[in-house]
Amino acid sequence: MTTTIKIENMDAALGARITGVDLARPVDAATRDAIAKAWRDRLILVFPDQNIGDDELIAFTRLFGDLDPPGPNPYGAPFLPEHPEINVISNVMENGKPIGNLGAGEAIWHADMTYIDVPPMGAVLLGLEIPKGEGNTYFANMYAAHDEMPAHLTAAIKGRTCVHDATYNSAGMMRKGYKEVTDPREAPGARHPLVIRHPYTGRDALFLGRRRNAYISGLGLAESEALLDALWAHATQPQFAVTHVWNERDVLMWDNLATLHRRDGFTPTARRVLHRTQIKGARALEAA
Ligand SMILES: [Fe+2]
Repeated sequence: MTTTIKIENMDAALGARITGVDLARPVDAATRDAIAKAWRDRLILVFPDQNIGDDELIAFTRLFGDLDPPGPNPYGAPFLPEHPEINVISNVMENGKPIGNLGAGEAIWHADMTYIDVPPMGAVLLGLEIPKGEGNTYFANMYAAHDEMPAHLTAAIKGRTCVHDATYNSAGMMRKGYKEVTDPREAPGARHPLVIRHPYTGRDALFLGRRRNAYISGLGLAESEALLDALWAHATQPQFAVTHVWNERDVLMWDNLATLHRRDGFTPTARRVLHRTQIKGARALEAA
């Protein structure tokens, strides 16, 4: 039996909704290739109503590359010992201990794990428990942000690299094994070009990673701070972004090299549980 995949672009600078494919069953090569193409083109794909578990989440992710395990979380141990390659995103406490990362607060704009030399190229999230209408996730298209950048910003970052701090996660929690950073010039973490050539599409993208403790090499600290503020203000404008309002059983995959994402906070007493896999990057990022 062949699958009839249906791809509908969202009315935004990125995003597509994919129906007509059951991720609980093996995905044939033609369907996999259609998904991969849509992912390159639209950066964010949403597959509603997927009745899958962790094994199927892992199998689906592996269609697009090797798994990249999560970075160190604030608690120093995997949330799912039986599946250390899965990260749990949750505010739920069980027996006095968090079952997942990030709590219930807002998570500010960022891309995942850009503090390593070869950041993950993508990620897949499975929504298991969702407080209705809360904890929305936003994604912004960094090809569009690059292509529509004012000329003075383009000139200011030409040939420059930026440090991507490893100390804090997107909820502002310090990762286990790190110490507080007071001077961004001394932040531990990878250096990447500010404009990268995407390793899979060859397109140029603005690559910001995360704002906290970022520093643009070769500039004075005040100059770096001012330029970073201008770049982030530009990159996170609504015309480059799409909002995802979660439903339980949504599977959402994103291109981590050509997008930024953030999350709204939600009612702390509500339960929100998502499982996330990551797809390993192929190589260090090259300048455009
Ligand atoms: Fe993230």
